Amino acid sequence: MQRIFSAIQPSGIPTLGNFLGALRNWVKLQDDHECIFAVADLHAITVWQEPAQLAQQTREIAASVIACGVDPGRSVFFHQSAVRAHAQLAWIFNCVARLGWLNRMTQFKDKAGKDRENASSGLYVYPNLMAADILAYHATRVPVGDDQRQHLELANDIAQKFNHDYGVAFFPPIEALVLGPAARVMSLRDGTKKMSKSDPSEQSRINLTDDAETIAQKIRRAKTDPQPLPGDPAGLDGRPEARNLVGIYAALADTDAVGVLREHGGQGFSAFKEALAERLVATLAPIAAETRRLLADPGTIDAILREGAERAAAIADPIVAEAERLVGFLRT
Ligand code: AMP
Ligand code: TRP
Repeated sequence: MQRIFSAIQPSGIPTLGNFLGALRNWVKLQDDHECIFAVADLHAITVWQEPAQLAQQTREIAASVIACGVDPGRSVFFHQSAVRAHAQLAWIFNCVARLGWLNRMTQFKDKAGKDRENASSGLYVYPNLMAADILAYHATRVPVGDDQRQHLELANDIAQKFNHDYGVAFFPPIEALVLGPAARVMSLRDGTKKMSKSDPSEQSRINLTDDAETIAQKIRRAKTDPQPLPGDPAGLDGRPEARNLVGIYAALADTDAVGVLREHGGQGFSAFKEALAERLVATLAPIAAETRRLLADPGTIDAILREGAERAAAIADPIVAEAERLVGFLRT
């Protein structure tokens, strides 16, 4: 059985993008993979997080992930900072990855923006930590949204260079699993920007905690164009907002753009948006309710994460100890 690793940052409330691009796939993969999932709090502090909020957001994201269907009995589920192996291996990888490789990362360029000089050095080496997350478990398959593809290519480069430099076949190749018709959900305000939990505009995203009325209202106000829906996907070219809503609908209805347009082609957006909002509410309302139920008992969430961290460390510690031995650290 192949081993899966993936993670989500506790940098806000998870969005529909996280759900369709990642969480929903995590849930399905549990059936036929050994799964390890983390809340990436080490990654979150690459940009400023209020300390009191970070701990609470870590719990909230954990509750959301469990509410989506990640089963901490079957899968290993924990928060990254509780397992020291991640930071230990990341340091070694900081010394394996080349500056030239990191300079090509488009997410760093996006997140650092114009004020590059003032970005944290953690934000710059973030992909090295991500490689360590995966390789500390010798995981071979990584379900992520489309935005993380480049980071996984870098993780493969790091694994290969480590193996080459130390003359071993220690780290396995990693395969990105970018699944479904909504691997890249775009902002509801701008079809060329990805939907993000850190976007300043609430209207740009659906949160997994939004109630039915909020979901319907955000979809009603979502940016579109004046044309009706086309009859086939070629008609979505140059219409990023329409393409996005069709992709979301397809993912929720377990079909593809062809299927959605066969049914809804020729329709105006107001009718289509109503059908879309209905689907969204049907999928997300039970998740929001379950998240609230779990959050009423934070002690149980903390206990789940603590136990997950113990199971995670039991896998990662020996692998990272072996990497340290290969590097040549004195073991007394
Ligand atoms: P993050 O919110 O950056 O911690 O991302 C957690 C997971 O959600 C990663 O696998 C991302 O690729 C995925 N993800 C985040 N935003 C989107 C989006 N707008 N569309 C699809 N997947 C996304
Ligand atoms: N960087 C990822 C994101 O923001 C989250 C993440 C951290 C991750 N470590 C990972 C995803 C390891 C996959 C594997 O989306």
